[in-house]
Amino acid sequence: MNATVARENWDDASAASGMRVLASGVDTGNTGILYLDAISVSFDGFKALNELSLLIDAGELRCVIGPNGAGKTTMMDVITGKTRPDTGTAFFGQTIDLTRFTEAEIATAGIGRKFQKPTVFEHHTVFENLELAQKCDKRVWPTLRARLDSEARDRIAATMETIKLLPEASRLAGLLSHGQKQWLEIGMLLMQEPQLLLLDEPVAGMTDDESMRSADLFLSLAGKYTLIVVEHDMEFVERIAQKVTVLHEGSVLAEGTMDQIQQNEQVIEVFLGR
Ligand SMILES: Nc1ncnc2c1ncn2[C@@H]1O[C@H](COP(=O)(O)OP(=O)(O)OP(=O)(O)O)[C@@H](O)[C@H]1O
Ligand SMILES: [Mg+2]
Repeated sequence: MNATVARENWDDASAASGMRVLASGVDTGNTGILYLDAISVSFDGFKALNELSLLIDAGELRCVIGPNGAGKTTMMDVITGKTRPDTGTAFFGQTIDLTRFTEAEIATAGIGRKFQKPTVFEHHTVFENLELAQKCDKRVWPTLRARLDSEARDRIAATMETIKLLPEASRLAGLLSHGQKQWLEIGMLLMQEPQLLLLDEPVAGMTDDESMRSADLFLSLAGKYTLIVVEHDMEFVERIAQKVTVLHEGSVLAEGTMDQIQQNEQVIEVFLGR
């Protein structure tokens, strides 16, 4: 089912963005929300992605694992338009050809990306960071000082609740812990009403407790959003895993439940070790 269209404020967001393609939301049809087929990317003759194919359903929480250099980040670069594939097909929903859209268009179309290093506005409060994120269009930044209507305030409050930072609303972001900054940045992504969230090593550098809280957060976001989580921390992956994709040398080596992955001979050989 298309769980992604009935998002509050969707029309407002699309109107503000000026992207007509959003008016009816992303049509996920029966080909999933993200479709990659035979994507190849070469850097100086080295194939970072080699005929990579991937299908993600709307609302999935997909974990992507694989050794260093497997192509995980490059895959996210292709999805977000940062890197153009040499060959292959990449669609967001049925109509958005990711190989033709610019990075900004792809972000506006509903794909949010979280890099490893938190990039919050340290001298602004948690509340202000979320407010700024909502008005991510830089031209409207002066409206930071404009009166917020109650709906916007409610949305910010709801987001703070989701990322468990409600008690820190008036705290400067610079004073948050590393984990809290990461959650704030996820909250900032959520303020932009994405449909697909790409999270590259989101728990790196977190304490065990923060990591566990992140697991709860991601599980709570699944269904409402589609998430692709790249992580090396296997304990964390086991905690949130539904379907897991193993990348190796730029292609999918295996896909399945955590149990299936852990018992896969090839996976054991190249990645998990014995
Ligand atoms: N811009 C680039 N120019 C040249 N080579 C690159 C570039 N980006 C990535 N690569 C190479 O492509 C391969 C895949 O890199 P990528 O960063 O996608 O791996 P990864 O799976 O994210 O690894 P890690 O787990 O270490 O983050 C690596 O060998 C890397 O050195
Ligand atoms: Mg990487």
